[in-house]
Amino acid sequence: MNNKGISIALFSAKGGVGKTITTLNLAGIYETLGKKVLIIDFDLSGGGISTALNVPNGKSIYHFAYDYNNNQYQEFKNYVTKYDQYIDVLPSPKDPRQAMKIDPKYVEIILDKAVFNYDVVLIDTTHDLTDFNILTLDLVDQILFLVTNDPLDLKNMRSLIAVFKDTNMENYKVILNESIYPFKNYFGIYDIKNIIKANIDYVLSKDFYIKNIDNFVMSGKIITLDKKASNIFSKDYTTLMGICTDIFKEGEKHEDA
Ligand SMILES: Nc1ncnc2c1ncn2[C@@H]1O[C@H](COP(=O)(O)OP(=O)(O)O)[C@@H](O)[C@H]1O
Ligand SMILES: [Mg+2]
Repeated sequence: MNNKGISIALFSAKGGVGKTITTLNLAGIYETLGKKVLIIDFDLSGGGISTALNVPNGKSIYHFAYDYNNNQYQEFKNYVTKYDQYIDVLPSPKDPRQAMKIDPKYVEIILDKAVFNYDVVLIDTTHDLTDFNILTLDLVDQILFLVTNDPLDLKNMRSLIAVFKDTNMENYKVILNESIYPFKNYFGIYDIKNIIKANIDYVLSKDFYIKNIDNFVMSGKIITLDKKASNIFSKDYTTLMGICTDIFKEGEKHEDA
């Protein structure tokens, strides 16, 4: 491929809202659409992408930064680990102490290389506004905000959205993830929009709560690549498919412009 790929970062105002699982699910959908996908694990000190996918212990973002800094970098593909025919992973450092040593300047260097090697670059993050994350959010084509129906999360999200409006960031979509806390229903969608002062673009429903999700994680399987699960959760599978195709259409529009 010669074209530049699309970069998408998953972000939130709180941890444990489904960023990592959603990153994997979107990767699975893009695979079914025939796209070459790179998942970058920018949860530098606690990242779980390579663990969740059971990919072998290979090189990580730390090795990339180290080699780049020491003029030993040759090719981007030397740092990614293959999950399957379509999906590669650029893992977070194995040792959290290595995470501290990665300069935020590598965000741009890594993204720059990634988009020229893949159709879609999916970036898993942590929820804090570190320099590293701010740079990531600044540089990606599309941000997906995950928010749950948890009051604490919603309050934090309101502040985050305010920051985004302040800085004229508009390239984001909000996903309400009801599958995380299927038993919380204090707020309806109308209330939630009012609290966060933003539109909700997509909803992952309570029906998408997966009781045996740990089986998927332990066996390195992606839910959206599992035929049975995709049938059972067909409504939310369709929503995820919609997110993927909407972002792709947006990207093509920009390319034509
Ligand atoms: N659809 C779902 N059904 C059941 N549990 C889920 C679902 N999505 C995520 N989880 C669980 O919720 C927890 C937080 O999800 P995770 O993706 O790790 O969030 P984050 O990356 O935002 O911290 C994990 O234990 C995960 O297995
Ligand atoms: Mg995570």
